[in-house]
Amino acid sequence: MDKKCVDGNLMTQVIIFGSSRSFGNTRKVVDDILDSAGIELFDLNNFDISPFDYEHRNQSDDFIPLIEKLLAYDTWIVGTPVYWYNMSTQHKIFFDRFSDLLKIRKDLGRKLRGKKLFVIASFGDSYPKGFEDTFEQICEYLGMEYLGSSFVYSGTKHEKYLEQNQAEVNKAKLKLGIVNESNFLTTSKLKSKI
Ligand SMILES: Cc1cc2nc3c(=O)[nH]c(=O)nc-3n(C[C@H](O)[C@H](O)[C@H](O)COP(=O)(O)O)c2cc1C
Repeated sequence: MDKKCVDGNLMTQVIIFGSSRSFGNTRKVVDDILDSAGIELFDLNNFDISPFDYEHRNQSDDFIPLIEKLLAYDTWIVGTPVYWYNMSTQHKIFFDRFSDLLKIRKDLGRKLRGKKLFVIASFGDSYPKGFEDTFEQICEYLGMEYLGSSFVYSGTKHEKYLEQNQAEVNKAKLKLGIVNESNFLTTSKLKSKI
């Protein structure tokens, strides 16, 4: 969807969402941050995308049609829970299939160059050290621009992470052009604790 960001530039953003539950903690975080911005969301659970196959026998699944749709957008927002210190299985399968774009659909792979990527992750225990490295390296390899990540804590045990959540929300909104620095004081807090 076309929209103007706060500095007036036309930009298109899309959410690529992948979690083992479509309406759990991560979806709530993504909705709280982005709902008001009216950004289109693709839930990987709604697509038949099988793991990478060296023989490319899965060419007729939903991966290539989904990529063709996503290529219409400038900024890709990845919404994922932290599972075992890493992205969700849904996202891992999705990103593994990027190898198809380097082998059998190079025409599409080349179109990734210049796309922007931001990650919204929810975690429930400890701050995931090194989590961002994967996305940074994927972007570097594919010629995409890595905008950063926001980590929102969904647990209740660790007060320090709870306090940090609003800063992570603000970071996402700033990076995605939903607000500018001066808006921060007036932006809503996470609507409710997850
Ligand atoms: C299989 C699994 C693995 C998890 N691994 C981690 C982890 O490594 N670090 C962490 O902080 N939280 C971990 N969690 C907690 C989730 O990241 C957290 O509850 C998240 O908000 C769940 O989002 P969801 O409702 O979209 O699945 C894990 C949860 C599950 C189910």
